[in-house]
Amino acid sequence: MIFSRYFFYLNSYKGFYMTLSKKLKELNKRHKAAELGGGKERIEREHKKGKLTARERIDLLLDDGSFVELDKFVVHRCRDFGMEKNKIPGDGVVTGYGTIEGRIVYIFAQDFTVFGGSLSEAYAKKICKVMDLAIRNGAPMIGLNDSGGARIQEGVVSLAGYAEIFLRNTLASGVIPQISAVMGPCAGGAVYSPALTDFIFMVQDTSYMFITGPDVIETVTHEKVTKEELGGARTHSTKTGIAHFTAEDEEKCLLMIKELLEFLPQNNMEDPPILPANDAPERMHEKLQTLIPGNPNKPYDIKELIETVVDNNHFFEVQANHAQNIVVGFARLNGRSIGIVANQPAVLAGTLDISASLKGARFVRFCDAFNIPIITFEDVPGFLPGVDQEYGGIIKHGAKLLYAFCEATVPKITVVTRKAYGGAYCVMSSKQIRGDINYAFPTSELAVMGSEGAVQILYRREIDSAPDPEKFKKEKVAEFREKFANPYIAAELGYIDEVIEPKMTRLRLIQALEMLQNKRDSNPPKKHGNIPL
Ligand code: HXC
Repeated sequence: MIFSRYFFYLNSYKGFYMTLSKKLKELNKRHKAAELGGGKERIEREHKKGKLTARERIDLLLDDGSFVELDKFVVHRCRDFGMEKNKIPGDGVVTGYGTIEGRIVYIFAQDFTVFGGSLSEAYAKKICKVMDLAIRNGAPMIGLNDSGGARIQEGVVSLAGYAEIFLRNTLASGVIPQISAVMGPCAGGAVYSPALTDFIFMVQDTSYMFITGPDVIETVTHEKVTKEELGGARTHSTKTGIAHFTAEDEEKCLLMIKELLEFLPQNNMEDPPILPANDAPERMHEKLQTLIPGNPNKPYDIKELIETVVDNNHFFEVQANHAQNIVVGFARLNGRSIGIVANQPAVLAGTLDISASLKGARFVRFCDAFNIPIITFEDVPGFLPGVDQEYGGIIKHGAKLLYAFCEATVPKITVVTRKAYGGAYCVMSSKQIRGDINYAFPTSELAVMGSEGAVQILYRREIDSAPDPEKFKKEKVAEFREKFANPYIAAELGYIDEVIEPKMTRLRLIQALEMLQNKRDSNPPKKHGNIPL
């Protein structure tokens, strides 16, 4: 009796373990199938193009061993075009979460080896699931894009999937940082998901973005253009400004994403991380005393000032090759993350044109949404004159920059290094639009316009009738400069809080930032404002 019971239990255990090992084998088999994506051949094809696979990208981006995958066995539900016999677990997108420098991020990586990374209904649902998690749990969402667009076999169901993603991109905007890297094709309406996110990275030579490709363009408009010329990384980082960052290769691209995240909070309810600072706050630089040329028409490089002033001289520039007459980017001051907006006198004399206004406005709004203080370095002779600019709508585009600075409630510190002329004075975070602390260098000129322009308008008749018009003009310009081309009238009115020696810039900025660290300000309650789009 006892023996028979013993054998009964033994057999049950054996049966149980055999079943378990069979089940584990099946699980492993399923994992392997999912991890192989579209198969070895297609993976090799991608490697030959200089591209990594979705999983390789995730491995490089996230902290070692931190990735937790979701929906690995999801398959598409298409029954047309023989698709019911062609199902690959994961269905062309790897989704999940992990950490970067110990901080949680949510991620999706499109897998070009599976149906060209094209988006099916099931695939879209996977992306939406991680986006919902990211929004609910307040952590950045990173999308690595590499896709042939809508899954042609699924028709409108795929389009609906895109729409679901676009909705989430919009709802997440201003709540969590959203970062897109384009690491292969991204065409048609598919471009709108990255376009709705905060930052777009592109990889040189292997990525492209366009609404309609070269073939369609040639058919419709007879224009001949290559994919690279139309929507490659170079085009989008220089001409259109759609790409905020360009990397030489995928590994560098992933490193740059990590670097960007260091400056950002996890969500809009947090402050950005403060890193231990190893750069003395009181560090002063004599070279700044002479950086700004005495002649107001002589250019200088504002980046030299920025790099000298910020922690460890490290400035992480955004859109470095687009609209270079304005410089924007992230840096740290005594360990605190800051956003910098600076006119660049070395390009178009630092004037504000349409592209610069858009670039500046978007950056200011990002910083404001994510509690990053804004430091403005101002040297701007005004908006760029020209018929093209007027016809292009400089009025409404310039208004965007103005609107962005006006609505921003984060700490705002301005340093006028030289010219603050006309409307541009008002726009660039002036005291009257809630600049918290406004400094000026002794070389600064806060006036309606430059001395020569002013004299030309005020004394046109006198100049024409003067015995020596040139001499008369020169005298008047000197008189005007003496009276208006300085910071002291503004300082007397309290529009400038302090006129500082340039070498003091770092110290004063750090002191102001610390003083403003608990700043509270808000805008009137409303559904949303109506920024002049
Ligand atoms: C289904 C697709 C696909 C798609 C590519 N594939 N795109 N499958 N739907 N949209 C498949 C191919 O059949 C092929 O399968 C594999 O992916 C790799 O594609 P190749 O053409 O061999 O690769 P390559 O030569 O590198 O060319 C890549 C490409 C090209 C430029 C992306 O595949 C292409 O033009 N695809 C179509 C792009 C497109 O028009 N998409 C729709 C855009 S409209 P096998 O089995 O041979 O490996 C859109 C609307 C979105 O997306 C709207 C949102 C609002």
